[in-house]
Amino acid sequence: MSIQNSNRENWGSKLGFILAAAGSAIGLGNIWKFPYVVGENGGAAFIIIYLICTAVIGLPVIIAEILLGRTTQRNPVGAFYALSKSKFWASIGGMGVFAGFVILSFYSVVAGWSFGYIFEAINGVFNDFQTPQAAGQHFEALVSNVYWIVGFQFLFTLVSIFFVYRGVQKGIEQGSKIMMPVLFVLLFILMIRGLTLPNAEKGIEFLFNADWSLVNGQTVLMALGQAFFTLSLGMGAMMTYGSYMSKKNSIPTSAIQIIFLDTLIALVAGVAIFTAVFATGQDTNAGPGLIFHTLPVVFNKMPGGYIFSILFFILLTIAAITSAISLLEVITAYFVDERKWSRKKAAIVFGIVAFVFGVPSALSFNVLSDTTLFGLTYYGIVDYLASNILLPLGGFFIAVFVAWRWGFDKAIVNLKDGAGELFAKYPWMLLGWKILIKYLAPILIFLVFLNSIGLF
Ligand code: PHE
Repeated sequence: MSIQNSNRENWGSKLGFILAAAGSAIGLGNIWKFPYVVGENGGAAFIIIYLICTAVIGLPVIIAEILLGRTTQRNPVGAFYALSKSKFWASIGGMGVFAGFVILSFYSVVAGWSFGYIFEAINGVFNDFQTPQAAGQHFEALVSNVYWIVGFQFLFTLVSIFFVYRGVQKGIEQGSKIMMPVLFVLLFILMIRGLTLPNAEKGIEFLFNADWSLVNGQTVLMALGQAFFTLSLGMGAMMTYGSYMSKKNSIPTSAIQIIFLDTLIALVAGVAIFTAVFATGQDTNAGPGLIFHTLPVVFNKMPGGYIFSILFFILLTIAAITSAISLLEVITAYFVDERKWSRKKAAIVFGIVAFVFGVPSALSFNVLSDTTLFGLTYYGIVDYLASNILLPLGGFFIAVFVAWRWGFDKAIVNLKDGAGELFAKYPWMLLGWKILIKYLAPILIFLVFLNSIGLF
């Protein structure tokens, strides 16, 4: 039996795949989460560890994921099963689908804030904020409002469902092609604005001057988690997108392009935000509210700020949409491939179920804010579980599967499709991938885990 699946929809073009995958990678993780996690973990040292994780672990794993998807043309559960005929490995795919579901549930909450802020911007609310404290209070007032927070979470969910419902080319690909380039231009403009604010150099220093005394096992686990989260790795999103990819295109080249774009956007966002944080004398440690406290004040101070503020929150919302649809697509692909559901039904049902499971995350910012376990709210727990546990664990198993279970030699044969010329020109790339995926990536992930639970 061939594992080719000829009815499967495909990306319309190579660029379409890159932008859709970059659209999945670039999202709240880059513009909202990266800055605040950097802020909470002491700045530059964290960034360096994150960059190392991206190069040494993220790159080989993203190649492995796309390859598994493209070779089998299946969702994560089907992909592992097709190549191993093992229930254990299929359940690793299942863990990925579950992680996608969990992430979608809380992702839509934060994306909802961004959605809601489009209307704040249109109403000119930011014009009143002379101080970051005022912006912060306004943010706190909004997220304390259950109707506001759950309402926008719901609206955001509906938009994500819409794209997945429309399908790979007409929904996901078309949406990404329009919005990703615009997002990039706007963020770049904001970075320039940040750099030209007074005291910008303090922000730059915070970003690029490492204080290693702040680093411990938890910091490294956070950096690893952030690398996985921002690259949409370890749960099968890249696998699912890879399953719609043509064998004529080169996986390593695409992987490098996706990682490059994703990392660039995170760093640009970091510069834009930390220059503004220091210029307006704010606390780097503001947590999930950071950009909502910071940016309104910056917009207020910049010429044309009214227009930029509207555009910015539209674009942030769109960046979040292109990521959320990749999360919903993983669950949808699973139900379409394995349970023979229609795409439309799967998208609607699981979009709504993820919304329902996300409501306690939304309530973590108001009525449930004092309900904590290990000092974390419900939101804090699901975020930690998914980003810092499930994704790295998924990445570990993906690396082990490709290198050891499926087998490196078979993987290579398939990886050469579309990349023959590249490997002929740079033969060391194959050796590099082999060392990373077989040894370094799994061992490093394992050590980070042991260390973070205090085993050494
Ligand atoms: N990479 C997305 C972001 O940075 C989040 C995401 C994680 C999307 C995992 C899909 C899978 O916002």
